[in-house]
Amino acid sequence: MIKTDDVLLVMGSHRNNGNTAYFIKALSEQLTQAGVKHQTVDVNQLKIDHCLDCAYCKNNFAKCVFDDDMNDVYEALRTAKVVVFASPVYFNGVTSKLKTLVDRCQMIFLCDFGHKTPFVSSVDREEKHGYIVSFGGANAYEQQFIGNEITLDLVYRNLRMPLREHFKYSNTDRQHVSTSEQATEDIRRLATEIEKEVKHIER
Ligand SMILES: Cc1cc2nc3c(=O)[nH]c(=O)nc-3n(C[C@H](O)[C@H](O)[C@H](O)COP(=O)(O)O)c2cc1C
Repeated sequence: MIKTDDVLLVMGSHRNNGNTAYFIKALSEQLTQAGVKHQTVDVNQLKIDHCLDCAYCKNNFAKCVFDDDMNDVYEALRTAKVVVFASPVYFNGVTSKLKTLVDRCQMIFLCDFGHKTPFVSSVDREEKHGYIVSFGGANAYEQQFIGNEITLDLVYRNLRMPLREHFKYSNTDRQHVSTSEQATEDIRRLATEIEKEVKHIER
């Protein structure tokens, strides 16, 4: 059962012991130490259906035809001040399990587009920010992270949350992120930044 906390971390890898899982666990540990209320959604644990494009949400404000784990995710997305989507690159885009979650955000899009009422009220969307963390197994190449960014930034746009930063790690099939000094430093910096955001400490 997902609670509504200040920070939502979404673990988008299909592996529970890979780079994405490591990064999210390390970030979660640092947030716990800092006393930041947060929760992690692991896409492998979610029982959610694919969007059917059935138009139910077009006719019913902020409701999906399915009654499944996505209900809790919607509420967490609506209320979290900070969201972190972390996903490996699969064929230059987010993983299929994360894409299923993303497509279910069509309901959020239709609140604005169909019902002319934002899913996130003007009060709730103050100071909301999003982050993306991506992992590509191959050596860096030009288009490696563009797919993740375009897809997840669109979710943030629908949530009226600006994307603050996209952390990108290439070559993760050869160098696990746990051995990367850059990633260790990024996790520390990100945790500090999130703590400041949710506790309203001056940046
Ligand atoms: C189905 C599939 C597609 C992949 N496609 C790409 C790709 O397009 N580009 C890339 O750099 N790595 C690709 N990879 C490698 C993964 O991005 C890499 O193994 C990553 O570290 C997996 O994340 P994880 O360690 O968090 O599970 C792919 C892996 C899989 C299983």
